[in-house]
Amino acid sequence: MTKKKGEIVAGILAPHPPHLVYAENPPQNEPKAECGWEELRWGYERLRRDLESIDFDVMLIISPHWQTYIGTHFIGVPHFESKSVDPVFPNLFRFDYTIDYDVALARAIHDEARSDGLVVKMMENPDFRVDYGTIVSAHMTRPQWDKPLVGISSQRSRHYYSVEVMQEQAITLGRATRRAIEASGKRCVLLASNSLSHRHFTTESDVPEDMSREHIYNHHQYLWDMQVIDLIRSGRSTELMDIMPEFVEQSVSEAEAGSLGWLISALDYPSFGADVYAYGTVIGTGNVVAAWFPGRAGEAVGAKTTPAGAGA
Ligand SMILES: [Fe+2]
Repeated sequence: MTKKKGEIVAGILAPHPPHLVYAENPPQNEPKAECGWEELRWGYERLRRDLESIDFDVMLIISPHWQTYIGTHFIGVPHFESKSVDPVFPNLFRFDYTIDYDVALARAIHDEARSDGLVVKMMENPDFRVDYGTIVSAHMTRPQWDKPLVGISSQRSRHYYSVEVMQEQAITLGRATRRAIEASGKRCVLLASNSLSHRHFTTESDVPEDMSREHIYNHHQYLWDMQVIDLIRSGRSTELMDIMPEFVEQSVSEAEAGSLGWLISALDYPSFGADVYAYGTVIGTGNVVAAWFPGRAGEAVGAKTTPAGAGA
């Protein structure tokens, strides 16, 4: 009997400012907020509602805050429990986490990537501390924490070489990821955990959730974000990848982590638009919550076994 082909059922741009978890007040996070960043949080809420109608097995994530300087690493430990404290915002994020990892799928992607010439490594340190970017994106997308993750590091070839080298490697990793998913038989949700423009304020107001202080850092950053969002909404993925290096340089974008390039490549350069749930700033950075649903567009990546059930 042949195994059912795996597929990507959703590809999500899922930014990770810890402020969003802080403002949600989940029981796992120690600091408590009055409110704040509603546009982004309600956007995530609408995304979660859409995901409810999609059957999936696992979430794969690249976070800019798990950085590796020699190759791409994959989490190879099945379970972690600890407390994550944001090094920049310890006043906002002290989060008790319990996370299961799909090590088999991680290893399959690792092997595919290695066969394509990437430098890769399975991360098997049982004392590893999961980064806050992974936790925030995963929590905002799926606060039930009922799906295992595949954790993939952000290899910093941008800093050793250039944005172009980073992007080439992200594209290769995306292709390898897609092949491994198809062979796995699993239904996967991919999370690119990054902001768009990333210039930010350097001082914090006395009340972090004081929204009278929240706005875009400057108009040029805003224009870059709008251009990128226009390409995302209209399914012009090739153009998006073409301008990505300049976007990263000009707006200090967190897409420098390779996460968005990986996502676009794994989705095989979707020609259908993503659903944009929200755009908003956090300490001046530009953040968009958006998702591509291949099943909804009738262009599933991988096998079309059953309707992806992407809902209305
Ligand atoms: Fe970040």
